[in-house]
Amino acid sequence: MAKSSFVITFLFIFSFTSSLVIQTKSYRHYPQLNVTASLFIFGDSLFDPGNNNYIKTLGQANFYPYGETFFKYPSGRFCDGRLISDFIAEYAKLPFIPPYLFPGNHDFKYGVNFASAGSGALSETARGFVIDLHTQLGYFKNVSNQLRQQIGDADAKALLSRAVYIISVGSNDYSFPFVRNITIPNTQQFVGMVIGNLTEVIKEIYNIGGRKMGFLSLDHFGCYPYGRVLEGGNNGACFDKFIPFINLHNTQLSILLKELQSELKGFKYSLADQYTFTEERLNHPSKYGFEEEKVACCGSGPYRGHPSCGGRRGEKEYELCENVKDHVFFDFAHSTEKFNEQFALEAWNGKPNGLGSYNLKGLFESE
Ligand SMILES: *[C@@H]1O[C@H](CO)[C@@H](O)[C@H](O)[C@H]1NC(C)=O
Ligand SMILES: *[C@@H]1O[C@H](CO)[C@@H](O)[C@H](O)[C@H]1NC(C)=O
Ligand SMILES: *[C@@H]1O[C@H](CO)[C@@H](O)[C@H](O)[C@H]1NC(C)=O
Ligand SMILES: *[C@@H]1O[C@H](CO)[C@@H](O)[C@H](O)[C@H]1NC(C)=O
Repeated sequence: MAKSSFVITFLFIFSFTSSLVIQTKSYRHYPQLNVTASLFIFGDSLFDPGNNNYIKTLGQANFYPYGETFFKYPSGRFCDGRLISDFIAEYAKLPFIPPYLFPGNHDFKYGVNFASAGSGALSETARGFVIDLHTQLGYFKNVSNQLRQQIGDADAKALLSRAVYIISVGSNDYSFPFVRNITIPNTQQFVGMVIGNLTEVIKEIYNIGGRKMGFLSLDHFGCYPYGRVLEGGNNGACFDKFIPFINLHNTQLSILLKELQSELKGFKYSLADQYTFTEERLNHPSKYGFEEEKVACCGSGPYRGHPSCGGRRGEKEYELCENVKDHVFFDFAHSTEKFNEQFALEAWNGKPNGLGSYNLKGLFESE
């Protein structure tokens, strides 16, 4: 496979159905909707519901067979069905949270989703093909201003402080240099830059009024199908060169969150351990109802680890599995709906990770 086509697709989507369109109800009716808090979503393809449908990029998934399991149409999600963020919205009794760029979306009472497939904390990551985290923050500033105009300062302040903010970012920053085969940066320095930029964004969300934030540890994405391709693609091994970055990032993230908890009054967080969760399923797939933990459902090449699912990213030929429920991975870099549901449930209900932290349920229900 040409390196370049791999990269472009890695830069990591919606025609919207009526069921997803937020109903127009005044914030004053909020309690009657049984909604504890609204949900603002930032990050990458793990959470992107279709923002990339509206930018110029090959990092899109708005074509068959994406979306077949649940939505029955290709929304732009890099999945056969719902994303982790969709399940979280369901558990919180919220409607699906729409992409910020969905045209005509001006109702932000339940929250809004800024995530963009392929994006990272660094603006260099896939620059020009994604909405990076700082730009997502700029959109959020805009939303907070619009909320103040729509429902007034006091209600907007209450909404923003009661809301939950979930952020998935980092894996694209670390995989980008490897996928592009450019100079691999010094681990300490590079992780410091990613965590530094994430810290800035967290503090900005706090300054705008956000208090309750949910994070994920980085996954071992060297074991994703594309990781096994980077490793050579025939002996089943994971690409281990990511590991120092992942380990240091995860350590620094948990330290950072504890620090912010004592530094920022009222700051609350949850941190879901994605790494351990995935590792457990890759080691014991059948225990969790999976038959195939290495080969993606959709794609081509070894482990179907080429980003060709749907045939619209350069490579036209691809294979599609018969039973998506057997698979941990749907495409080269993204898990199936079944896997996402298991993880979302753990992040929602699981034992909180870190002293004084919450699970997502606790975060939603906290004052
Ligand atoms: C909200 O929740 C309460 C208690 O769980 C329930 O009785 C009521 O019917 C719910 N209201 C709506 C609009 O769903
Ligand atoms: C902010 O929102 C307004 C109204 O939707 C829009 O016209 C403007 O372009 C937005 N600005 C940014 C920076 O997104
Ligand atoms: C990556 O770059 C190095 C140095 O520029 C080169 O020797 C190597 O062949 C490249 N690897 C791939 C897979 O393109
Ligand atoms: C944020 O990332 C940029 C590179 O995109 C870097 O120059 C800068 O130092 C980083 N900021 C922090 C606070 O680490």
